[in-house]
Amino acid sequence: MRMLGIVLAAGQGKRMKSKLYKVLHPVCGKPMVGHVLDVLDSVRVDRKVVIVGHGAEEVKSYVGDRAEFALQAEQLGTGHAVLMAKPLLEQEEGVTVVICGDTPLIRSDSLETMIRLHREQGAAATLMSAELGVPQGYGRIVRNEQGHVVRIVEQKDCSPDQDAIREINAGTYCFDNRKLFAALAKVKNDNAQKEYYFTDVVGILREQGETVLAYCTNDESEWIGVNDRVALSEAEKYMRERINRKHMTNGVTIVDPANTYIEKDVEIGADTVLHPGTILRGKTVVGEDCVIGPNCELTDTAVAAGVQIKHSVLSEADVGQGCTVGPFAYLRPGAKLAGNVKIGDFVEIKNAFLDEGAKVSHLSYIGDAHVGKNVNVGCGAITVNYDGFNKHKTVIGDDAFIGSNVNLVAPVTIGKGAFVVAGSTITIDVAENDMAIARERQDNKPGYAEKLRARFKAAKENKSK
Ligand code: UD1
Ligand code: CA
Repeated sequence: MRMLGIVLAAGQGKRMKSKLYKVLHPVCGKPMVGHVLDVLDSVRVDRKVVIVGHGAEEVKSYVGDRAEFALQAEQLGTGHAVLMAKPLLEQEEGVTVVICGDTPLIRSDSLETMIRLHREQGAAATLMSAELGVPQGYGRIVRNEQGHVVRIVEQKDCSPDQDAIREINAGTYCFDNRKLFAALAKVKNDNAQKEYYFTDVVGILREQGETVLAYCTNDESEWIGVNDRVALSEAEKYMRERINRKHMTNGVTIVDPANTYIEKDVEIGADTVLHPGTILRGKTVVGEDCVIGPNCELTDTAVAAGVQIKHSVLSEADVGQGCTVGPFAYLRPGAKLAGNVKIGDFVEIKNAFLDEGAKVSHLSYIGDAHVGKNVNVGCGAITVNYDGFNKHKTVIGDDAFIGSNVNLVAPVTIGKGAFVVAGSTITIDVAENDMAIARERQDNKPGYAEKLRARFKAAKENKSK
């Protein structure tokens, strides 16, 4: 059986009061429309059509080749929006899932169950509903005495009786594709908002004697439609809890889940411990047996097993097995650490490879560099990689020793096992096993401190006279 999906994403989202189009607002780091597409992928739809309108270009460029698009140039309502998919889909035979782009919490197992129910009962339409204490803002499900779904009434069109109904429309539906488009042609806009309501399709099919079902979810969150920033924060909270629970179930210790922020596509190995204030973003992957946090922000970063990271920021970095990072380290794009590398406090690494066992323990900047195995970079040593126009590379051979407060003025190469004396500014390559010293020779003047003090004292007294 063919499976089709339609995502409604053409609205502006006025109630968000935002320059960003509604469906692009992120929930746990991913635009809402992205979550909705994930759900459609999880039930293996053959074709997905996203209805775009407001911010069409932005939405299209985010969605990319994950879906086909239909343009709704004027936003005349959700029914009108679905109609835009007609030229693309009307010839198809199968089940069509229609889902709102602002319902990011719909779960794939619920959708799966709903589709199964729909098929088993040979329904023309099945919608997802939920019982809410406060049904404010949602369409109400009207049932007859036998308990069958009769139609959906939008809040603004509700009679006082209907207003009291607590079963609401979650905005996710499945349909027999042919029947959907046939019924859609009959939707009118004679309602409070003068809009073509997609929800009217349910009543139309029912009047034709078709089977219309409701699948009532008991999840406390999945029906949330994000119309404003209050709902956005609620969606964020529920999504965060859901993600954290998944990782804990998989064997990750999260010391304080309320204070740990993990985006949806992040992967974490078992027996890793996340301390409070940990934020894992984008395509970050953390291996097993790591200790991350407190207070770490990792974006698109790969962390192998057995790594410890404290109070640090890592972005597009790659950290090898058994490394320690921080406290207060900053690993920028292209920072790549082999196994057992130590990055200490106030160290910044950018576009640099540090081989097995290298140590940069304190107050350093390493940029555009290749640092060999077991190299020790002393406190305050830096690569001078930028001349105001171009970036240049520093190469440090295995087992070399870079003393404290050394400037390595790139392009420069330090040979294997070489020794660079503290305080040196190195501008010329150093050969293997050589020692380099590049600083003024020290001159000690015996007893001169006393003379100096006397002179300064006299000068001060003179001045105050
Ligand atoms: C809609 C439902 C309501 C349901 C709720 C669930 C209708 C008429 N009402 O109400 O029964 O309880 O969702 O969250 O469908 N959109 C378009 N083109 C348009 C209008 C809207 O693409 O012309 C898109 C929006 O971008 C949004 C989705 O459709 O993603 C839903 O629209 P919205 O205005 O948020 O509908 P609700 O009032 O929340
Ligand atoms: Ca909505």
